[in-house]
Amino acid sequence: MSKEAFRNQAVIVTGASAGIGKSLALLLADQGAKVAIAARRADRLEQVGSECRSRGGEALVVPTDVSDEAQCRMLVEKTVAEFGRLDMLINNAGLAVVALLREYPDLHLFRHVMDVNFYGAVHCTYHALPYLMQSRGRILAVSSLGGKGGLPFNTSYTSSKYALHGFYDSLRMEMRRHGVSVTVVCPYWVVTEFHEAYLNKDGQPRGKQGRALYTKKMMTAERCAEITLRAAYKRQRELLMGPGRLLEWLKLIAPDLLDWLAVKAILEPIARRTRAGKIEA
Ligand SMILES: NC(=O)c1ccc[n+]([C@@H]2O[C@H](COP(=O)([O-])OP(=O)(O)OC[C@H]3O[C@@H](n4cnc5c(N)ncnc54)[C@H](OP(=O)(O)O)[C@@H]3O)[C@@H](O)[C@H]2O)c1
Repeated sequence: MSKEAFRNQAVIVTGASAGIGKSLALLLADQGAKVAIAARRADRLEQVGSECRSRGGEALVVPTDVSDEAQCRMLVEKTVAEFGRLDMLINNAGLAVVALLREYPDLHLFRHVMDVNFYGAVHCTYHALPYLMQSRGRILAVSSLGGKGGLPFNTSYTSSKYALHGFYDSLRMEMRRHGVSVTVVCPYWVVTEFHEAYLNKDGQPRGKQGRALYTKKMMTAERCAEITLRAAYKRQRELLMGPGRLLEWLKLIAPDLLDWLAVKAILEPIARRTRAGKIEA
């Protein structure tokens, strides 16, 4: 991908106030793109917007809660009014609740995860589609390896990411003759604020505790953004990071072994640490 691959292209990035979305916006600004950046925290978005401009890109700050369809429609309309077109939609905004299903007090939080991670992408995609068809543009969705295999403590998160794959696998076929590509990327562990923002069963962020499992080998948000953007540029259909391919093969040939590994590696250690009072349920 050339350093100017996205020059002058109009791009919406959701979840751009932090982490992978912020890195994607900055990378696009480096290339001279026009980025509309969206998330709920306006102050954080303003900072990202200034950084984009100082790197040579144009930036439009649109505070948006993607779980609200009307706000997503406004995001698209404001972007097209400002830049005159839309070449790429990046659906990246996301969050996770980490709790056993039987311990959720009710299903309010479960629905919230679906509303942000799944419907947030559906809302933006639906309203952006007419403009993307005009530009024969690109859709890029940031899913997760949790969209390819189950994870204990993550029923709502994995459901929302699995749903994204069904949605985009179908839409990719519908968009084939319109020249709109659909790329779905599945990162593994990336150093961002994601694990601090993890909500517990009562909707409280885990804070620094969420970083307890971080290692030096984990991918940076900048690196994740680079390979993600390259996949979208090449109009690749899917990109699995980390052990993604291995996970797909294991699921095909030994699904029970994969379940066993997930229970041993995730469910049992977390249950042990919770019982020992080292982390809250
Ligand atoms: N980090 C990882 O290890 C990892 C691994 C696999 C997949 N992913 C995926 O990567 C994507 C980005 O996550 P990240 O790691 O960059 O996490 P992050 O640093 O926590 O960033 C999440 C972004 O989503 C935004 N967001 C959350 N709720 C929103 C809402 N209702 N409306 C609009 N924006 C909202 C947040 O902004 P506001 O709070 O300002 O709204 C923030 O900008 C997510 O879809 C996540 O599932 C991450």
